[in-house]
Formats: sequence, structure tokens, C-alpha cells
Amino acid sequence: MKKLLGAVSAIALMMSAGQALADCDDGEIVIKFSHVTADSGHPKGDAARAIAERINKDMNGKACMEVYPSSTLFDDDKVMEALLLGDVQVAAPSLSKFEAYTKKYRLFDLPFLFSNMESVNRFTQGPVGQELLGAIEDKGYTGLGYVYNGLKHFSANKPLMLPTDAHGLKFRVQTSDVAVAMIEAMDASAQKLAFKEVYGALQTGVVDGQENTWSNIYKQKFFEVQDGITETNHQLLTYLAITSTEWLDSLPQDVREQFVTIFAEEVTAANAKAEEINEKAKEGILAAGGTIRQLTPEERREWVETMRPVWDQFEDDIGKDVIAAAVDANS
Ligand code: LMR
Repeated sequence: MKKLLGAVSAIALMMSAGQALADCDDGEIVIKFSHVTADSGHPKGDAARAIAERINKDMNGKACMEVYPSSTLFDDDKVMEALLLGDVQVAAPSLSKFEAYTKKYRLFDLPFLFSNMESVNRFTQGPVGQELLGAIEDKGYTGLGYVYNGLKHFSANKPLMLPTDAHGLKFRVQTSDVAVAMIEAMDASAQKLAFKEVYGALQTGVVDGQENTWSNIYKQKFFEVQDGITETNHQLLTYLAITSTEWLDSLPQDVREQFVTIFAEEVTAANAKAEEINEKAKEGILAAGGTIRQLTPEERREWVETMRPVWDQFEDDIGKDVIAAAVDANS
């Protein structure tokens, strides 16, 4: 009984830490997927669970996937190294977090680049987007696919209707130099912080504001410690699912092919649900008493005009042709 209680409390502890359990059998190849967001009702959390469920069903006896959400295993900065060390096999950091590995992904952070998620899909599934999947191959990583979240919005401890309202404020950003430049374009300052530190930093006033998607703002409860959110749709949040090339190449061919196929199919299915998940999160914020502010077309133009010069700063790193292909995907 004592043993049973011990086992029950160990499981409860793992569950409370947000760890998704999988029933891996001896002899199965264990695939650990570590990420930082909520494990359900979130585009990445839902995608990871769907991939794991399918692998655990279709590859039973050969391979087994365990998902570790909510930064329970690694932060996005540590996970890159963990992949190469073989401590985890799959991660999906946002494209804003690859600064140390390639400057090509700066493209995805350019403010007001994509009009909507259909444009994002056209670009990522087109030739230029597919070629970019391989931009960190020389660092030992294989891109398994783009996992969508959505477009981001600004929030702060005061109403933000125009970029000038942000003067002098400090915003949390991801580890992205484009995001820093974008914040500085508003005469505000930026602080790079890990995702799991954002709520505390907003609550204690270490930063005044942040920018994220509806699903992240809702699931991390950022709206609780902000005056309101302005629906700016100013920048994309999308993830790159990656693995270590060495690990992938070490798999028996049939296992590798089945894993890559399942991964791609489940990511496509999950991506088709990302917008709906974000809409539900937006409704959740309103239902929980959060404030959402809409911009008039004139106000929106001010935001675009303030941030658009940021593109010029990063054009050489990204490539004019790549930016042009992304812009084309809007039409
Ligand atoms: C962030 O740090 O804001 C996001 O990258 C978190 C995530 O994975 O959605």
C-alpha cells in the first residue's frame, strides 16, 4: 500500500509539473519532445500531444513519444544544446529564438510582414519557405516542419492605441534582435526574457508590457497583470519543430520514415486548427474580464509606419529576394 501511495504521489507530482506521461515499453525508441507552452488548448501543446498520440499508436513496439510541456524539462535556450546532447529528441522553439544559429529566420519577425495566417501558410509551404527549413542543417539540426501559432498583439500596463503611447515603456521580447529593433522604433525599451519569466516580470513591474498571441496571453494569464491588449496583429509567432540530424540518421530506416511522415501529417492537421484555438483564447480573455482594444485603420497605419523601417536594418541578413517572396505570399 505504502508502495502504491508512493507511486501514486510520484505520478501526481509529474502530472502537476505538467509532464505528459507515455507508456513506453522496454525496447521502444523513446522520443522526448520538450516545449515551453501549455499542453492543451494551445496550438503547440495540442500539436505535440496529437503527434505523440499518433506515434504511440502507430509505432507501438518500435517507438514511443513523451511530451514535456510548460518548460518542465528545458527552456528554449537550453533545449538546443539538449537536442545535440541527446537529452531530448524533438523541440519546437519559436523562429524568433534561432538568432544564435542563423540570421535567415529574422525574416519571420519583420513587423507587419504577413497579413494573415493564409499568407504564412502560402509562404512556408512554398519553395522559399521549404528551403528555409534547412537553414540550421550546418549546426546539426533537421527542421521537421513549421508549427503555427498566430499573429501577435501588444499589451501593457496602460492603454496602447498609438505607438507613441509606448514611449518610455519597457517590453518583454523573445531572444530576437528584430523584436528589440521593433520596440526601439517606438522609443520604448526591450528586455529579452524566457517565456516562463514573463508573468512574474509583468506582475512585479520588471517590464511594463509584452507582445504575444491570444493563446499565449490567455494560457499564461498575462491579461490578468496588464491594463489591456491592443489587437495589433503586428508580428508572427510560429515554431520550427527540430531534431538532431545525428539522432534522426541513427534511426532504422523504416522507423525514421514512419516518424517523419507521421510528424508531417500531424503538423499539417494541427496547423489547420491554430486560428480557431487562438480565437477561442481571445474569447476566453474577454470572458475572464480582460480588455481588448481594436485599432481604427488610421491608428493601425501609425503602427505600420513606425515599425516598417525596421525591415531595412535586417534586409542584408535575410536577403531581399526572401523578403520579396514573403511579401508575395500576401497576394
Ligand atoms: C515566447 O517566448 O513568447 C514564445 O516563444 C513562447 C512559445 O513557445 O509560444
